[in-house]
Amino acid sequence: MDQENLSTVQSLSTNFDNCMTIGNPSSNDNAKNLLYSKPRQLTDDDCTKLELQDKRGLLSSFINAKLEKEAAANWDKFYKRNETRFFKDRHWTIREFSELLGLPENDSSITPAKKRLLLETGCGVGNFFYPLLESGLNLKVYACDFSARAIDLIKQHEQYDSENIVAFVADLTQESCLSPHIPERSIDLVTCVFVLSAISPSHHGFVAANVASVCHHGSVLLFRDYAVNDMAMIRFKPGSKISHRFYVRQDGTRAYYFTLEEVVKLFADYGFRCTEGGYLHRRTTNIKEGIDAPRVFLQAKFVYERP
Ligand SMILES: C[S@@+](CC[C@H](N)C(=O)[O-])C[C@H]1O[C@@H](n2cnc3c(N)ncnc32)[C@H](O)[C@@H]1O
Repeated sequence: MDQENLSTVQSLSTNFDNCMTIGNPSSNDNAKNLLYSKPRQLTDDDCTKLELQDKRGLLSSFINAKLEKEAAANWDKFYKRNETRFFKDRHWTIREFSELLGLPENDSSITPAKKRLLLETGCGVGNFFYPLLESGLNLKVYACDFSARAIDLIKQHEQYDSENIVAFVADLTQESCLSPHIPERSIDLVTCVFVLSAISPSHHGFVAANVASVCHHGSVLLFRDYAVNDMAMIRFKPGSKISHRFYVRQDGTRAYYFTLEEVVKLFADYGFRCTEGGYLHRRTTNIKEGIDAPRVFLQAKFVYERP
């Protein structure tokens, strides 16, 4: 790792974050993660692969429009194939997002009797929020996804409890998609975990606007997603590039790779101030599959300051 680029924001310890491109990576629980202010630097080999991606040009606007139109259907098929087996439960979340604990000394309005309201955007089958509820956090969860099948799987989970979990189908790119399901400006915590990368960058502003519409002054937004120069971005083959840092996988789902600056600006435009953020560098190793690859994610925290 390039020490000159190192600007540690916070020292973190985490499990591996399961990824879309590598089936079942082994993890090193003792690995220390750091947040860096700069993304991973490209090797010469990476640069060659990125140049190759461009050789066949970008996908046509016709295909791009088709992918956009079929986005929900493609994720639905994904959950039909994989059901709850693909993503692993995310057990790193409390360690890295201590805001989830909502310590009462930081907020006098929080009492043991008062649940905080958490909105999980693009919740999939609940790998983020079910572990939080299991660990006893006093939360009421609003969980939305545009795959109806994912929402059905959430409702079939053994810990599903309709008092505590409001799971609903919503397309985050559609105006006012959240307000019919959520009391006005009631959400204390929002999570955007590997969801915005699945959405066209031209629609990210709509998602941020929807999220802002249900937040109150002081709400916290927690973000983790793919970062620029991640190994999975380099591995895309020619013919899978939609636009700058935006790709389509073989199953029709899409992946965008973020820079810190653009995430900070995206949410700032809708009233969220970034309190912490950086690139999370990891190495994924899987001896059986001969994989040893650099992964890089983007992690950031925001506070909503209602204009
Ligand atoms: C990579 S998965 C992440 C799931 C979950 N956040 C997790 O961490 O396990 C991305 C999810 O975003 C959902 N998604 C993609 N675009 C969406 C949109 N426009 N509106 C709502 N959900 C969307 C997909 O259906 C999928 O469940």
